[in-house]
Amino acid sequence: MNIQAWRGWFSALLLSLAVLAMAPAVAHAEYPIKVRPPNGLALTPPMGWNSWNRFGCDIDEAKIRAEADALVASGMKDAGYSYLIIDDCWQVSRDGHGDILADAKRFPSGIKALSDYIHIKGLKFGIYSDAGDFTCQGRPASRGHEYQDAAQYARWGVDYLKYDWCNTENVNAQVAYETMADALRATGRPIVFSLCEWGLHQPWKWGAAAGGNLWRTTNDIWDSFNVSGHYGEWSSVLDIIDQEAPLAAYAGPGHWNDPDMLEVGNGGMSLDEYRTHFGMWAMLSAPLIAGNDVAHMTPETAKILMAKEIIAIDQDPVGSQARRYEKSQTFEVWKKNLSGGRTAILVLNKSDQPQTVTTALGPLDMSTTKSFSVRDAWAEADQGLMTGEIKSTLPPHGSKVWVLTPAK
Ligand code: GLA
Repeated sequence: MNIQAWRGWFSALLLSLAVLAMAPAVAHAEYPIKVRPPNGLALTPPMGWNSWNRFGCDIDEAKIRAEADALVASGMKDAGYSYLIIDDCWQVSRDGHGDILADAKRFPSGIKALSDYIHIKGLKFGIYSDAGDFTCQGRPASRGHEYQDAAQYARWGVDYLKYDWCNTENVNAQVAYETMADALRATGRPIVFSLCEWGLHQPWKWGAAAGGNLWRTTNDIWDSFNVSGHYGEWSSVLDIIDQEAPLAAYAGPGHWNDPDMLEVGNGGMSLDEYRTHFGMWAMLSAPLIAGNDVAHMTPETAKILMAKEIIAIDQDPVGSQARRYEKSQTFEVWKKNLSGGRTAILVLNKSDQPQTVTTALGPLDMSTTKSFSVRDAWAEADQGLMTGEIKSTLPPHGSKVWVLTPAK
């Protein structure tokens, strides 16, 4: 190769490297989109149960029916858990018309019969698909079949769709989610739309306009308080709350940040850690989608998942996601505005030792001179009047959730 040709080849190489370096920014550019009007659903964060965290692909109609029965019998339904969602692996192929087919061995009665069963129980029915060619478990997904699949879901009586992001090479996230949102709306059936692209393209900026009711903000949750899983790919509770901290402004009635489904009861954390996980999700106005085996849960797990006053914080109609006011090596303080001028404060002990944290109200933008009546939301107990500061005695990895009401 002479020097001229070499130079030409070298600058071509530099140019392609530059283009490659820019490619992600170009490929993921935000599009100016038509803002879809809200679909009127999920005015408070959705609550329900999903098969993935506990069962993965090992699902069948008997198991799902048993979970539906247990959601009712345990009191979970009455506590607000209304959506039963089957995640990946229910689907196996498409028929000659391109219609999606369920695994006939695992769901011999078909999806419509399962949906009917769930509805008769007074629950709502959710299903899972993916914006790519295949789901994360290699099952047929919805790319190119959006309207056909949405119509099928509507025929089956689906009330909620979780739409994942595996195998989506060369697909624009915003456009893909808009397409499915439009397809769902075209059915005329009210269907909650859950975006699951793990926060890769900042869905909090465009998810609501694209027609979504909730969007995942992080990688998959790992059933651990502070250790991430799968070589850092799966996020612990502390990883997730760190990533949610800057996103409060994007959440509100009808459109929520989704820090992933609950691990409460799946065995990887202590009860204090699960209480912190659940309490933090409530502070974050997160969808409360249980992911344990409800049919075989312990009384301690049931008590956490059905903690009435913690759920009320999550479901507060104002829909204001908590903001983090303090973060040190060993503790954090989060504040959430509630209806009726009330305030929820969560004080979290990250250290392995018990500690007592005194929180001054001034730095939380609250009055330092007025009195508040204080309630311990986990203990469901009034603590009397308090002015200026609040003291929390915390076990390792534990937390306190206080609800403050201005005294008359
Ligand atoms: C992804 C999602 C999970 C779950 C699995 C199913 O990892 O983030 O929540 O749906 O796919 O394969």
